Amino acid sequence: MKLTSDVLYVGVNDHDIDLFEGQYTVPNGMAYNSYIILDEKISIFDTVDARFGKLWLQNIQAALNGATPDYLIIQHMEPDHSANIANFMDAYPQTKIVATAKAFAMMKQFFGNDYVDYRIEVKDGDTLSLGKHTLTFVTAPMVHWPEVMLSYDSYNKTLFSADAFGKFGALDAEEDWACEARRYYFGIVGKYGQQVQALLKKASGLDIQTICPLHGPILNENLSYYIGLYDTWSSYRPESEGVLIAYTSVYGNTKKAVFALADELKALGCPKVTVTDLARDDMAEAVEVAFRYDRLVLATTTYNNDIFPYMKSFIDHLTERNYQNRKVGLIENGSWAPTAAKTMTRMLEVCKGLTLCNTVVQIKSALNEESIASVKALAQELV
Ligand code: FEO
Repeated sequence: MKLTSDVLYVGVNDHDIDLFEGQYTVPNGMAYNSYIILDEKISIFDTVDARFGKLWLQNIQAALNGATPDYLIIQHMEPDHSANIANFMDAYPQTKIVATAKAFAMMKQFFGNDYVDYRIEVKDGDTLSLGKHTLTFVTAPMVHWPEVMLSYDSYNKTLFSADAFGKFGALDAEEDWACEARRYYFGIVGKYGQQVQALLKKASGLDIQTICPLHGPILNENLSYYIGLYDTWSSYRPESEGVLIAYTSVYGNTKKAVFALADELKALGCPKVTVTDLARDDMAEAVEVAFRYDRLVLATTTYNNDIFPYMKSFIDHLTERNYQNRKVGLIENGSWAPTAAKTMTRMLEVCKGLTLCNTVVQIKSALNEESIASVKALAQELV
């Protein structure tokens, strides 16, 4: 696929994957993007997942049309992009590999070879002339691993952005960009907002007209929209007003309280109320929505003198991703010694800028008049 007269897409779509990175469901598959610049010197950006090496090498062979590549640029060493380095070097042994020192150290770890005779080690701000195109390398540690670098092509004003601006979903899937990009972002780099902010600062000094990420579509229109969302997400600001009610329920009594609260919030005019059952729904989607909205309600049972495991896991997902600057309400249920709210409060203490609602709904086994009144009071506080 030609992106311009001399920049080609040679990536692959994966519709066979069960879990991306061993944990994320990807109902519309995944794309592992790879690109070639056909200039006086020919450069290839990144490889693809191990299972697609043969197809990727065929794509490259077709794009090269008999020419020999000069550089394999490795922007990120996670195996969804690096798994075919050794296969590529077997096929094109004279190619020079361009990467950061940290990336070469990882090559040694993954392949037992750091290509001493074929390496061009680059650091932030280094340039590589290909002919018409000149690449400037921009390091982006922890977006998403420490060795990551991006490459800016000043000729086409294109940023090859590694994992940044990527999303779940194969390129032949018709779906909204933001939904699966947000789930991907908070799942994968949500912890590293500060580092993403540092990258956005560097990128703001570049004239970018096209973004070529390693996952998801090539972005070449309305770039301020995508960059604006990355700025919101990485600064932990809520993207929109809304309430996520995340719950677990063993026999349905906590669930009844959750839906009573949702109805109450809607009756009070709350524009967006999303309810998620943490034991049954996609956890990554729940994490995404928690970061998207400005309010969150956690409802769970006391369990083994702690809280129900799915809720524990959900709160861990939030706190390890620096969840902050939101309003939070709590609902607890317990038949003899309800302590879930206390446990959740303690788990959330590490979060900056949380406002906990004064009303804590306590259910003793099942809803009654008192706890229904408490649900209504919580709804009032949330709106
Ligand atoms: Fe797409 Fe961090 O790998």
